Amino acid sequence: MNPNLDKLQAYPFERLAKLFAGVTPNPALRPISLSIGEPKHPTPEVIRNALCSHIDGLAVYPGTKGLPVLRQTISQWINRRFDAHIDPETQVVPILGSREALFSFAQTVLGECEKGTRVAFPNPFYQIYEGAAFLGGAEPVFVNIDADTGLADFSALSDEVLDQVALLYVCSPNNPTGAVMSLDNWQTLFDLADKHDFVIASDECYSEIYFDESDPPVGGLEAASRLGRSDYNNLVVFSSLSKRSNAPGLRSGYVAGDADLISKFLLYRTYHGSAMSVTVQHASVAAWSDEVHVQQNRELYRQKFQAFQSILKDTLPLTMPEAGFYFWAKVPGSDTQFALDLYQQQNVTVLPGSYLGRECNGHNPGEGHVRLALVASVEDCNEAAHRIKALLSAGH
Ligand SMILES: Cc1ncc(COP(=O)(O)O)c(C=O)c1O
Repeated sequence: MNPNLDKLQAYPFERLAKLFAGVTPNPALRPISLSIGEPKHPTPEVIRNALCSHIDGLAVYPGTKGLPVLRQTISQWINRRFDAHIDPETQVVPILGSREALFSFAQTVLGECEKGTRVAFPNPFYQIYEGAAFLGGAEPVFVNIDADTGLADFSALSDEVLDQVALLYVCSPNNPTGAVMSLDNWQTLFDLADKHDFVIASDECYSEIYFDESDPPVGGLEAASRLGRSDYNNLVVFSSLSKRSNAPGLRSGYVAGDADLISKFLLYRTYHGSAMSVTVQHASVAAWSDEVHVQQNRELYRQKFQAFQSILKDTLPLTMPEAGFYFWAKVPGSDTQFALDLYQQQNVTVLPGSYLGRECNGHNPGEGHVRLALVASVEDCNEAAHRIKALLSAGH
């Protein structure tokens, strides 16, 4: 058996199930989950209709590179959204949601690579980065997220460590903090990648969930273009329709950027067998071509975040994230105890921040925080805020 499998940690939701084992939640209250980041708004008609009208696509094997119309549509969307030019022929490939691709991309970069065997990413983090590092035969480098900025400062790593890093994941908008990398942050990262020759994998699946319509998050491709790196050297960006279009079950996204990396990844994927169904490709064309449902989606999140924050303002002051659909809340006492009490007394499920982080430099930066995913309906989110208030007012 592959010995690296033993290095994988229990997924946060497994740990949560263990924490709650044997505990009976308050039976007088209906369950509300704020723990899993699964969008719950309805999947738009435009996607459902396109899926149905292209059902014949199920009768053919799809190609791994994807249909030209899909690659063109995604390139045009990237151009509209990020003012970045992507060649649909060489710089973009469809992926089955960003999760599988964030994972398998590491297999493409690592292997017997001559560069070091380390993979760096922010801590706390989306758990796939760590699994990808281990199963790629590499060691993770955790970089603690700064409590003030909500981002990891990779320039704090020593030159020696950076020289060993072959792959570095960034997540902007960040899960769980909601912080967004600025153009300056990107400049610093590009300089480090040039100096130490590593590949940047930018996880941007929350880029379309933001609150200020006039100030959408900067993306990696956008930053590269604005900074005169229009070949996207050593940069690939991952995104998907899961959060943008409330279609987590569609399993549809894209990877775009450095043509050399994309061509190697496409080769890998051909063997890996991760081609997108033609039916799903057509539904994805419809989704990327429509912005109305995305704006409506943002409006719903805006309402939920404002109401949630206002209900809790005197009991648990919450800072608005710049983007994404999580509050990263500092709670009194231990995060696991808070999650347990909230579940037991109020039947609301939240994710302890420590489950998303690892101990590094003497502490786990997720500790003392919980992640609140405002994915449920407006009504359920408001109700959850009132229940958190009730828990804290009762002296948790
Ligand atoms: C930071 C981050 N990246 C990637 C993903 C994967 O999403 P998907 O595979 O649906 O694109 C998630 C899902 O929750 C996430 O939180």
